[in-house]
Amino acid sequence: MSSTRRLLIAGNWKMNGLKKEARQLSSQLAKRMSKANKPAFDMVVCPPYPVMGLVGDLLKGSGVKMGSQDNHAQVSGAHTGDSSATLLKNIGCTYAIVGHSERRTDHNEKDADVKAKAEAAIAARMISIVCIGETLKQRNAGRTLSTNRKQLLGSLPTDANAKNTVIAYEPVWAIGTGEVATPAQAQEVHAAIRAELAGAIGPKEAAKMRILYGGSMKPGNAKELIALPDVDGGLIGGASLNAADFWAIAEAAHQK
Ligand code: 13P
Repeated sequence: MSSTRRLLIAGNWKMNGLKKEARQLSSQLAKRMSKANKPAFDMVVCPPYPVMGLVGDLLKGSGVKMGSQDNHAQVSGAHTGDSSATLLKNIGCTYAIVGHSERRTDHNEKDADVKAKAEAAIAARMISIVCIGETLKQRNAGRTLSTNRKQLLGSLPTDANAKNTVIAYEPVWAIGTGEVATPAQAQEVHAAIRAELAGAIGPKEAAKMRILYGGSMKPGNAKELIALPDVDGGLIGGASLNAADFWAIAEAAHQK
């Protein structure tokens, strides 16, 4: 199987997490992670902005990292409603999700925007998690690999390496739908992504770069997905809002 790649279990809370829920979730995860005997994975949660201060305080020293769900491409300035990577790093974020399909759709973000955001996150010394993935229409039209290739090459930050960048393959049709990619579908795309990365950043870095799967990952399907040779963890939405479920997914990583 793999490799020297350290698995990453990432939770994307999206627009969820009232103070009470955020507090419970963070303290439960912090407790489990501190007690875990040398976990074979890294863990990060990406809460919405309003509870980042709270979550960051509760996670401190636990081994669970905090990440953002988006960042502006500029460092500072007149951008009402946005947050820069510098501000997010300053409040304790060490990972930065960019280019999630919900942002690509809701905010019309293009590959070039995603690339600029990823570069800003890296400049602020965060690890960018660059999301790509095809829609059902694109898959049905036989354009799965070409769509992911285009998004990957267009969104990949200049100077991307295995330390500063993680790729998340999230088929849009599997997000929040309960429909999950089969192991064969996931492995096919992950292997194709790694092959493209080899061309873009060289085979050595490509072999070291983590590629996460996202889209209805749950305790019941995590093990077979994470066991795949080119799947290096998960980017989890719904199931990351429940500490027991999220931890059960992490345990699948521990078993790889
Ligand atoms: P779900 O796990 O809810 O399908 O969401 C996946 C996702 O979009 C993570 O970024």
